Amino acid sequence: MKDSNFLKEHNARSLWHPMAHPADSQANPPTIVTRAEGVRITDIDGHEVVDGVGGLWNVNLGFSCQPVKDAISAQLDTLPYYSIFRGTTNDAVIELAEELRAFFAPDGLSRAFYTSGGSDSVETALRLARQYHKIRGEAGRVKYLSLKKGYHGTHYGGASVNGNANFRSAYEPLLAGCHHIPAPYTYRNPFNETDPERLAQLCLNALEDEIAFQGPGTIAAFIMEPVLGAGGVIPPHASFMPGVRDICSRHGILLIADEVITAFGRTGSWTGSRHWGVQPDLMCTAKAITNGYFPFGAVMISDQVAAVFEGDDSGKAAIGHGYTYSGHPVGAAAALACLSETKRLNVPENAAARGTQLHEGCLKLMAQYDVIGDVRGGHGLMTAMELVSDRATKTPIDKARVATMQDQTYRAGAMVRISGPNVILSPPLVLTEADAQVILDGLAAGLEAIS
Ligand SMILES: Cc1ncc(COP(=O)(O)O)c(C=O)c1O
Repeated sequence: MKDSNFLKEHNARSLWHPMAHPADSQANPPTIVTRAEGVRITDIDGHEVVDGVGGLWNVNLGFSCQPVKDAISAQLDTLPYYSIFRGTTNDAVIELAEELRAFFAPDGLSRAFYTSGGSDSVETALRLARQYHKIRGEAGRVKYLSLKKGYHGTHYGGASVNGNANFRSAYEPLLAGCHHIPAPYTYRNPFNETDPERLAQLCLNALEDEIAFQGPGTIAAFIMEPVLGAGGVIPPHASFMPGVRDICSRHGILLIADEVITAFGRTGSWTGSRHWGVQPDLMCTAKAITNGYFPFGAVMISDQVAAVFEGDDSGKAAIGHGYTYSGHPVGAAAALACLSETKRLNVPENAAARGTQLHEGCLKLMAQYDVIGDVRGGHGLMTAMELVSDRATKTPIDKARVATMQDQTYRAGAMVRISGPNVILSPPLVLTEADAQVILDGLAAGLEAIS
């Protein structure tokens, strides 16, 4: 590896960063992370902090998960790649599919379609949903419904159901036939409703209304995150996702749970759907499936959807979709080790306890610092603070102050993620009580700096 002077001099010079303005990355070069251990990362200057971001919501078991590293290296030695396109397969994916089938049995999901990440999983689920209706003779069901504020990755299908302008405007026109309903976001919503249960009902009414307007026979699927993540951590009221399930079932619309963040324990339950007592028709997973060590994902498919595909004798169920890296054996080996560690450590239990600690800690900070307009969380290790320049008017804070806050938090010992006015916390699920306190102390230092 080149020396640190070389790296600093060339930082952001010959590469464009995702989710950043190229000129901004050159003017404000990103933190160069060079090492990680446990839940801590170290930068090029040797500064070590607790990673409150958990990589990117994916390093659930921390950076030192030896069984996953060993599985990757052993698989590289035995079979570093083989395709599972029609006609061939590999041993790792077969074994993994059986493990996933057992893991997702309580969610009613029994088949896996492998992908290389979250955006691929969303794209796959959207496509399979349309194909499902075509096989059944309802070819007119092609539209998708989703939530404003939802995040579903950046492929064209995912961006089209995405609920934030940031990820859409520059790339429009997007896919036709994608319609959005208000999110159950109590802090800001078009109904001016602050009660979570009443707001959930109003959003469900809006969904019913949109379905009636579009015509149920034109809609393929509704996609939602059980707890909205990248849009600013928005946990709906407990009645919301069951309400969505009921509406979808009544209208023959498939429910896609986008669990790229929430599957494998983050909400304090094994899956976000299980957290709310809902069985989706399709579920998108990725990220923590390999603890972030290898790009991999799986779309899980319900028995009922599987029966339609597998029972087809017209040829319509032939899947004309897949990626070179669908079913990569190294990813599958990583996922097998990861699933085993996730279960052995019973991570949802710790995610729930540490999630409560971080959520309550942020609420205490809100009582101290007016710059915090809203705190959201309370469902595992997904917490956000929304910063405002004026609490009464809820005016979003300006970018420079948030950047200062993040920088000071980092200096004080914690990496946190900024998305617009939101400070987002999604640390590894193996965080200890002391680690969580380091994050809270870091936040206090960051907030103090802008108060
Ligand atoms: C809910 C959700 N869906 C999809 C994605 C896209 O995943 P990826 O970035 O791996 O393509 C993300 C990424 O954060 C996500 O949070």
